[in-house]
Amino acid sequence: MKMRQLAGGCALAALAFSGLSAMADPADDNLLLNGETEIVTHTDAAPEYIDGLSEQYSGWHFREADTRVMQADDFDNPGMLAVEAAIDVWNTEDGSEGKACASCHEAPESMAGVRTQMPKYNEAKGTLYSLEMYINDCRTERMGAEAWGWNDASMVNMTALISSVSRGMPMNVAIDGPAAPFWEQGKEMYYTRYGQLELACSNCHEDNYGNYIRADHLSQGQTNGFPAYRLKNAGLVSIHNRFKGCIRDTRAETYKEGSPEFIALELYVASRGNGLSVEGPSVRN
Ligand code: HEC
Ligand code: HEC
Repeated sequence: MKMRQLAGGCALAALAFSGLSAMADPADDNLLLNGETEIVTHTDAAPEYIDGLSEQYSGWHFREADTRVMQADDFDNPGMLAVEAAIDVWNTEDGSEGKACASCHEAPESMAGVRTQMPKYNEAKGTLYSLEMYINDCRTERMGAEAWGWNDASMVNMTALISSVSRGMPMNVAIDGPAAPFWEQGKEMYYTRYGQLELACSNCHEDNYGNYIRADHLSQGQTNGFPAYRLKNAGLVSIHNRFKGCIRDTRAETYKEGSPEFIALELYVASRGNGLSVEGPSVRN
């Protein structure tokens, strides 16, 4: 891997980024899911509208070998228990209309490809929509059921189920047309320095991926693996929950899960991963 210039700034200099050993490189490894589905975890070129990346890597490449292996087989991936739980919910009637997801959408496999496009512009609602928002609209407007909270197990599990049926398909969010202003907003956020440490997403995930920050091997901060099963939390984590954690690490005030700011940021970050395979639920530390 080429040597990358450490980004400037006094606060940044106080944080130790280290990348001097060969260990700092992303693991040279391939992900074959369940011995049959090829997962694209690396590309030789990022989309041309992404200025700061010459190639793309899934976060999978930056995790230890045992964590990588766990994700390769559904029997070893603890995130798949959440998928199983969501299949039960999918088939269970809820709300005043006496309907289940299955009443209208048949099998969960009917959702294949949906995750690759999220977030996307919702014409009917006139704004950018994430997967969670689509799910809640179905619950409140079509089932007469209560909305799920962003971090409710039912919600995160359902996003895991819907992601799981797209695994192996390339991320493909639209950034043009009505999505363009949201993408611009997200891009602006990505390069804005936050908090006492004055760090932007780009300082860690663009300038320093492959390097270590404390004990963490920095990835490109891609979202194709979400929701991610974090071994540290022993549970699934949503994209916005991860964003929150990263912003907190810069000792800044953060936005809420589901906020318009995070949905715009989600679009921009997802577009940096267009072409990488959907992996959710992935396994991370
Ligand atoms: C009464 C029928 C009905 C029920 C019940 C229902 N949905 Fe939907 N759902 C729809 C319709 C109609 C759409 C919009 C389809 C379109 O416009 O492309 C939709 C759209 C979606 C989308 C967005 C798909 C896309 O390609 O943009 C998701 C995700 C979704 N539903 C998930 C769920 C989940 C999860 C449940 C159960 C919690 C559920 N739905 C229950 C009818 C239903
Ligand atoms: C101080 C450095 C730092 C900053 C700034 C930072 N992150 Fe992170 N981020 C990390 C670390 C460390 C991890 C865990 C290891 C890894 O995957 O890089 C991580 C993980 C992630 C992941 C999970 C990747 C995966 O495949 O599991 C995403 C997504 C992410 N960050 C997005 C962001 C976004 C968006 C921002 C800006 C709002 C941001 N990060 C700012 C350090 C940072």
